Amino acid sequence: MRRIARRHLPAFAFEYLEGGAEDELALARNRQAFDRWRFLPRTLVDTTGRHLRTTLFGVEQPSPLVIAPTGLNGVLRHDGDLQLARAAAAAGIAFCLSTVSNARPDEVVAGSGGRVWMQLYVLNVPALVDDIVARADAAGCEALVFTTDANVFGSREWDRRSFRAPGSLSLRRLLDAAAHPRWALDVAVPHGLPRFVNVMDFLPPEARSAKAGVSRIPTLFPASIDWDDVARLRDRWPRRLLIKGILDPADVERAVRLGCDGVVLSNHGGRQLDTTLAPIEVLAEIARAWRDRITILIDSGFRRGSDVAKAIALGAHGVMIGRATLYGLAAGGEAGATHALAILHSELDRVLGQLGCRSLADLGPALLREGEPTRRGLATD
Ligand SMILES: Cc1cc2nc3c(=O)[nH]c(=O)nc-3n(C[C@H](O)[C@H](O)[C@H](O)COP(=O)(O)O)c2cc1C
Repeated sequence: MRRIARRHLPAFAFEYLEGGAEDELALARNRQAFDRWRFLPRTLVDTTGRHLRTTLFGVEQPSPLVIAPTGLNGVLRHDGDLQLARAAAAAGIAFCLSTVSNARPDEVVAGSGGRVWMQLYVLNVPALVDDIVARADAAGCEALVFTTDANVFGSREWDRRSFRAPGSLSLRRLLDAAAHPRWALDVAVPHGLPRFVNVMDFLPPEARSAKAGVSRIPTLFPASIDWDDVARLRDRWPRRLLIKGILDPADVERAVRLGCDGVVLSNHGGRQLDTTLAPIEVLAEIARAWRDRITILIDSGFRRGSDVAKAIALGAHGVMIGRATLYGLAAGGEAGATHALAILHSELDRVLGQLGCRSLADLGPALLREGEPTRRGLATD
């Protein structure tokens, strides 16, 4: 799916999907970290009729996956948010809409008929934050996911390769975009570049276009966000509240004490602070201490069903999928995202069977041994 996405997208859009911050070491570590754990399967277990069902926040779902919030999905496919949300709905899992999405929460809820969560950046325009929370509430979003690891916007150096000024593609990238007519006819030509619909009404008129938004939005991330923001959101938001972007066990404890319902262990897919630990490396410690008190989700680097199996075995309740479904979306729209989810589902099912497990509840640390990472073979290059 990734290769098809790469062919379909102009280079600037593929780099946006794919890239990480600075030297992209966190990005690489997110993948390599899974190799530290090897499976120790049980044999001769009848796993006929095994299933991947689980319950997240009181709702039974066919698999432990949630689609992670990603901004600017409309640059990958026209109506990208809606197409991802529909794929999630068809798979019976939740879709998390980003603050910097190209569709509003009510449109996504109505257009997908599925379960929608709303991701929140507490930007430095209080009325904007109030508006997003109110809209998400009115739309019936099941959860509010406060992303806390973008207090200072990450340095993604591919931005400097692709853009000669914020929002203005370099001539080379512009020509490359023109050389992708299928993409251009889907995204750029008929509709113009997608706009940041949740944010733009709160920007001055000259900053409301897609192009101006790209340069203006990174300046709206305040370094001042702190735990008081969590307490305020807890007072205001009536349903599930999650904090996304946690790696430190002490921060999970604070989230529990402030009444959060869940955390997403995440390094933002390696797009914010570079050279962080991969979330999977801190999962077991956090799960041992807190999994009975709070729902623990994890993301960053999940590309295979076996990655998901390792996270569940180490104590996660569920896994958010970022780029894997974006590859599907870019490659084939809603059908592509559905296909990406189906691949993950069938891989997880196969791994479960090969491990001798009948359900996710059978997964546990006894099925894993930690050690030096294995060198990757050709199939995963
Ligand atoms: C293209 C792209 C855009 C993203 N935009 C957001 C966003 O708007 N809000 C947010 O909380 N996280 C955002 N993220 C981070 C994802 O929610 C998630 O943490 C990350 O993609 C997980 O890593 P993975 O891509 O390796 O699965 C974005 C990630 C990508 C790849």
